[in-house]
Amino acid sequence: MLSITQYREAFLGYLNKKIITKEPANLYEPITYILNLGGKRLRPVLVLMATEIFDTSYEKSLDAALAIEVFHNFSLVHDDIMDDAPLRRGKATVHEKWDLNTGILSGDAMLINAYQLFQNYEGPVFKELAQLFTKTAIQVCEGQQYDVDFEDREDVDIKDYLKMIEYKTAVLVGASLQMGAIIGGASEDCKKALYDYGCLLGIAFQLQDDYLDAFGDPETFGKQLGGDIIENKKTFLYLTALQKAKSTEARQLEHLYSINPIDAGGKIEAVKSIFQESGAKELAREEIGKYTQKAFEVLDKIEIPEDKKNLLKKFGSMLMEREV
Ligand code: IPE
Ligand code: IPE
Ligand code: MG
Ligand code: MG
Ligand code: MG
Repeated sequence: MLSITQYREAFLGYLNKKIITKEPANLYEPITYILNLGGKRLRPVLVLMATEIFDTSYEKSLDAALAIEVFHNFSLVHDDIMDDAPLRRGKATVHEKWDLNTGILSGDAMLINAYQLFQNYEGPVFKELAQLFTKTAIQVCEGQQYDVDFEDREDVDIKDYLKMIEYKTAVLVGASLQMGAIIGGASEDCKKALYDYGCLLGIAFQLQDDYLDAFGDPETFGKQLGGDIIENKKTFLYLTALQKAKSTEARQLEHLYSINPIDAGGKIEAVKSIFQESGAKELAREEIGKYTQKAFEVLDKIEIPEDKKNLLKKFGSMLMEREV
């Protein structure tokens, strides 16, 4: 097996070869723009790694890896419209740099392109990949809808939140590993266990994303800090703070989440200080650790060689220490 960095480089080489601007430029330029903006490339690396666990060359899964990354970027272009986000990976979002219609249609084309890439597989492998992809993509849409619905709902609890992030984020991480396993010809048990590992990591990953949205470093985060607070997102931080804060602070937090001031700076600072004072900030860190641990317990039980397991574990640990 290669190292995580080497898988990323192999993937980037393939992406650069395959993603090119053609006519009409107004459709394809935003696509090459977003795909070349960088990003951590976590999901495609997981596809490649999982393939090689089963002694199959990663080259066989480059198209699936690219499909997953293109789909992920499609979901970001539309997510940034839905979240009214100005920044992505330190640069203007597609709908800010171009306009809303460009973001919608370029996003649509990316989703279709992801399907096209799966068509490079044949027979039972194609069928299995397409089924997993379709199931996962519709779950992402469901998760995204819950995320938006929750902005205006007062009755959201932690269980609802966890379900929402499982759908919008975690299932795609799980599917990335499972796709690699499918192409690698893994047993049903291994495919399922790798999927479960990815899902648990994905939940920890989204908890961490929400944490960084409030408490990340503006120099490195690449997205608008406090974006979730501006949009009144019912994150783990918010839901936990409501439970743990003293009653006056909890009422103040609810009030802050009912207003949308033009200058959001004051609201963001006030909300963050309640997240901190109530202990929610600390509890969010603990929850990230809890899900990472759960993921490692699943990983321990998978019947694959120890050195390969270690690489997957290293990947999981890396995710939790990230600042971006
Ligand atoms: C962002 O995903 C969307 C979430 C699911 C939190 P990443 O944090 O993987 O984004 P990039 O691709 O590395 O920019
Ligand atoms: C997005 O969650 C998940 C998907 C794109 C499906 P977020 O809205 O938290 O992602 P970021 O923070 O904008 O990357
Ligand atoms: Mg967003
Ligand atoms: Mg969102
Ligand atoms: Mg986020």
